[in-house]
Amino acid sequence: MTILDGRKISNDIKDEIKETVDQMKANGEKVPHLAAVLVGDDGASLTYVGSKVRACERIGFESTLVHLPDSTTEEELLDKVHELNNNDDIDGYIVQLPLPKQIDSQKVLLAVDPKKDVDGFHPTNFGNMALDMPTFIPATPFGIMELLERFDVETSGKHAVVIGRSHIVGRPMSILMSQKAKRGNCTVTLTHSRTKDIEKFTKDADIIISALGVPNFLKADMVKDGVVIIDVGITRVPDESKPRGYAITGDVDFESVSKKASFITPVPGGVGPMTIAMLLKNTLLARENRRA
Ligand code: GUN
Repeated sequence: MTILDGRKISNDIKDEIKETVDQMKANGEKVPHLAAVLVGDDGASLTYVGSKVRACERIGFESTLVHLPDSTTEEELLDKVHELNNNDDIDGYIVQLPLPKQIDSQKVLLAVDPKKDVDGFHPTNFGNMALDMPTFIPATPFGIMELLERFDVETSGKHAVVIGRSHIVGRPMSILMSQKAKRGNCTVTLTHSRTKDIEKFTKDADIIISALGVPNFLKADMVKDGVVIIDVGITRVPDESKPRGYAITGDVDFESVSKKASFITPVPGGVGPMTIAMLLKNTLLARENRRA
């Protein structure tokens, strides 16, 4: 069994990006500038956005955090989005989800300039991805594909079962795993909350990508020997023994499932760090596209 160590691979990717940034600096070029918009004070979102900004500092990107109050109106957020679209110094930006309930997320995502949409959430970019055209791939699915690539996990002809149909993870994962590419060529089953007898699918799966958000949902008796496990779950479960009072828990019962798996991502330290590395990669791409 091999642990798909996302922390190590993400550090390798950040080092690679840093080398490119150092070269840009040496050439007197502008370095990539990522902005993140956070509305409200959701604990998890604050943590994610903080990590994204710190990662920028580490590799020499410029970064801007736009922190707006929970009471921000849709109009005010759209104004900020237009400002970022028109700010020539910003190469790419993200609007952290979820947004407060008074704001229509879809309207906001549609307003983001696709050239700066380093999350890959705009329909133009999502459509490009679905049609195998070059574009920004959403960071979490992009990170999973990169993990499979760097650990040389065979995917061609395999049955990949995706659990969860979110626009951020499950849906794009189902598209990427089926694409005609070196890391792809899977037969894909996309399961979700209305799927009947999910075990029927997981027991047949060669690769399982779980993005459900139910701690320890996937047990050893639901998978076959040699399965490849990608655990995207990051639920905060109260745990007095931890300094913060909670433990980050995946969808997969690691203890039992890892005994049957050929490859498995840990939580934390698997998919999570990869998401940040790939966001940085998309931001570098945004800079390069704008320079070209
Ligand atoms: N919320 C959870 N994951 C993501 C992500 O990848 N990007 C944004 N913008 N918000 C998120």
